[in-house]
Amino acid sequence: MLNLLQKRRSIRRYADKMLKKEDLTAILQAGLLAPTSCNKQSWEFILVEDKETLAAFGNCREPKQAFLPQAAAAIVVLGDTAKSDAWVEDASIALAFMQLQAESLGIGSCWVQIRNRQSNQNMSANAYVSELLSIPSPYEVLAILSLGYPAEERPAYSLDELKYDKVHQEAFGKKMF
Ligand SMILES: Cc1cc2nc3c(=O)[nH]c(=O)nc-3n(C[C@H](O)[C@H](O)[C@H](O)COP(=O)(O)O)c2cc1C
Repeated sequence: MLNLLQKRRSIRRYADKMLKKEDLTAILQAGLLAPTSCNKQSWEFILVEDKETLAAFGNCREPKQAFLPQAAAAIVVLGDTAKSDAWVEDASIALAFMQLQAESLGIGSCWVQIRNRQSNQNMSANAYVSELLSIPSPYEVLAILSLGYPAEERPAYSLDELKYDKVHQEAFGKKMF
């Protein structure tokens, strides 16, 4: 697991190659396996492979997220804000699980933040994506997870370079490492 975590990097360049159905299924299963507050499972996931929709995702943020239209697929992660006051946490954990499952399959991914961000179309990023995908209220979009076979190589993290001073022992300020 630590090895997988070291290898995972945000990938923003993708090969022009479709993802396998079974891999997309496994990634979505990883999201559905994520823990949620009070087991409320407040999330919903929208798998998008349609090229026109992926192209439109490019405008979901200011500045433009130019790599999104190049992705082979994207999973839009939303939460039911009426169902759980922890929908952000629920959706975030699910997204992280899906990112790790993608990594384990050799699929690159990148988290594109939608919540609390603006689109380049004079509306919030949430309003833009919600309109595009017919997402009703009270659902809100947390983020879009772009997916594709990597067309860039990024170095794995080394355990030696971790910020160990962020770890405290027993009380704040008492360093462990
Ligand atoms: C909450 C969150 C929001 C992010 N939003 C964006 C984003 O909108 N666009 C983007 O290109 N990357 C985004 N990222 C990816 C980060 O830039 C990236 O994880 C960070 O620079 C560390 O690089 P690494 O993922 O390769 O370790 C986001 C990551 C997180 C966790």
